[in-house]
Amino acid sequence: MRSIRGTVTTIVLAVAVEALPAVAQDSTGTRDTKPALAVLYTEGQAVRGQDGFTRTCTFCHGSHDFSGQKFRTNWSGQSVESFYSFLRNSMPQDNPGRLTGQEYVDIVAYVLQLNGYPAGTKELPPDPTVLNSFQLQFDTAQAR
Ligand code: HEC
Repeated sequence: MRSIRGTVTTIVLAVAVEALPAVAQDSTGTRDTKPALAVLYTEGQAVRGQDGFTRTCTFCHGSHDFSGQKFRTNWSGQSVESFYSFLRNSMPQDNPGRLTGQEYVDIVAYVLQLNGYPAGTKELPPDPTVLNSFQLQFDTAQAR
């Protein structure tokens, strides 16, 4: 009898621990009811993206340009592909299309991270079909 109860307790605990990270991820601490953001990129990809951003974009932009209210209002509801295409076709403004597809998609991953998207285990690929299947969801009310 004793051992059966012990097993049940262990299972319940394991479930509780698995549920924890989702709660802890909400660093704002206020809106735990909002729908979870899709997991689209890896931490390593965002690091590469930040590196590319620093080399190519900071001449004209600060990272706050891509997480503020104006930016979020412009892009919320658009597909990830629209954002990626915009970067490829228009940025850097003095030499659009200068980077590879991989470098652009890495910068997209970095921008997702700036806006609170969680990192996962699969990279965001430079594949328009895949990118088109995701919609950007930015919290415009909470933007700085
Ligand atoms: C030579 C200057 C210059 C460089 C370099 C540059 N940009 Fe821009 N970018 C601009 C200008 C000018 C605008 C238009 C600003 C506006 O109207 O808000 C802009 C606008 C943008 C926007 C739209 C902002 C919004 O609020 O919707 C994004 C996104 C963007 N740039 C990304 C990038 C990225 C990523 C890079 C690096 C690969 C880059 N830019 C490099 C000048 C530059």
